[in-house]
Amino acid sequence: MEIKLNKINCVSGMIEVPADKSITHRAVMLSSLAEGNSVVRNYLPSDDCSKTIEAFRQMGAEIKIDGNDLYIKGAGLKLTSPHSGKYDIYAGNSGTTTRLLSGILAGQNFETVITGDDSLSKRPMQRVIEPLSKMGADIKSNDGLLPLIIKGKNPLKAINYENDKSTAQVKSAVLFAGLYADGATTYRESVKSRDHSERMLKAFGADVSVDGNSVTICPAERLTAQDVTVPGDISSAAFFIAAALIVPGSNLIIKNVGVNPTRDGLIEVLKQMGADIALTNMREVSQEPVCDIVVKYSRLRAINIDASLVPRMVDEIPVFVLIATQAQGVTKVSGAKELRVKESDRIETVTSQLKKLGAQVESLEDGFIINGDSGFNLAGAVVDSFEDHRIAMTLAVASLIAKGETVINDSHCVDISFPGFYKSLKDICR
Ligand code: S3P
Repeated sequence: MEIKLNKINCVSGMIEVPADKSITHRAVMLSSLAEGNSVVRNYLPSDDCSKTIEAFRQMGAEIKIDGNDLYIKGAGLKLTSPHSGKYDIYAGNSGTTTRLLSGILAGQNFETVITGDDSLSKRPMQRVIEPLSKMGADIKSNDGLLPLIIKGKNPLKAINYENDKSTAQVKSAVLFAGLYADGATTYRESVKSRDHSERMLKAFGADVSVDGNSVTICPAERLTAQDVTVPGDISSAAFFIAAALIVPGSNLIIKNVGVNPTRDGLIEVLKQMGADIALTNMREVSQEPVCDIVVKYSRLRAINIDASLVPRMVDEIPVFVLIATQAQGVTKVSGAKELRVKESDRIETVTSQLKKLGAQVESLEDGFIINGDSGFNLAGAVVDSFEDHRIAMTLAVASLIAKGETVINDSHCVDISFPGFYKSLKDICR
């Protein structure tokens, strides 16, 4: 499916973005592992999250959907085998489902197979296989790719694991496996990745302690059901922040956005570039900081971003590159090699598609060089999402400032994280 979009005058008004994808996955997982009845309010009804919901239904959790809320009767830490004939769990496009679930399956007394779509089947899984195998799980794969055949063990062996990559999916897999270990498991990372798992595990009653970039979890006998309210996803808000910043005359309020300090790198960088962004009505909801974001069109200056900042804005880098095409000077992004193994090779897909629109972007092995001085004359073209939701949304925002018509092929993939994206965008375009 394709979508055709045109240049607009400005964006304005007030919007709310859908719930946070990372937090929804974790809330479904921990509620399913808990004893008792949990409620997950304002969950994200996206394609990715539905894969997690389905997987836990297959393994004994009762999950009822009522409007924007999930009512979950947990199955307890020991799940039931999903076997009915041949026991596949289908994770679709979702890396988070696959990797976090691997940590949980590592501690079960049964064997499971996780499969996924073409994109997920190309993404590296050795990063979870290695630590979970050290803990005693028997995981078979073809060259570190899906399908994963996971034969769990209980108890697992507690480990001290040090990762020079910053990855919340691997960290979470090890912490979840740590619930089933025979002692305290410690995970250390070079740069702190998003910490939603640590926060939520504590709320569900797990013994978790954090010391800088190191997290220790003790085995648990049980988790206790909770009420979790999921805030709006800053990674979805990023597209609207970008639209307001780059379309002259814009002024937008985005309500109810999670601004966890491990996720707010984009806001910090944009402020340094001269963006007029204010965080208002700051509050805490279910252990997560939440606010409203007021953003106005701004003349931006180029900046350099390196590996110390990338984990705090890893999913926002595609749209950041678009913003940088509108910032005066040359912006360099380095230390972002992980983008090559996301839903698409985002270094190549962002570069090739923004170039089609006339942007001056060059790819590096681990990032981008963006010349913003020529960025004011993007022109519509036929572009591809490569079935990557964040590429489709980046291109949709680019179309708002591109002369003429932009046609985005495979535009439907936004449903992975942001069902209703095109309508929300249309609602604020003037
Ligand atoms: C996620 C972690 C990030 C991010 C992904 C969601 C998570 O990946 O890119 O979209 O929910 O834990 P990493 O594991 O590379 O940090």
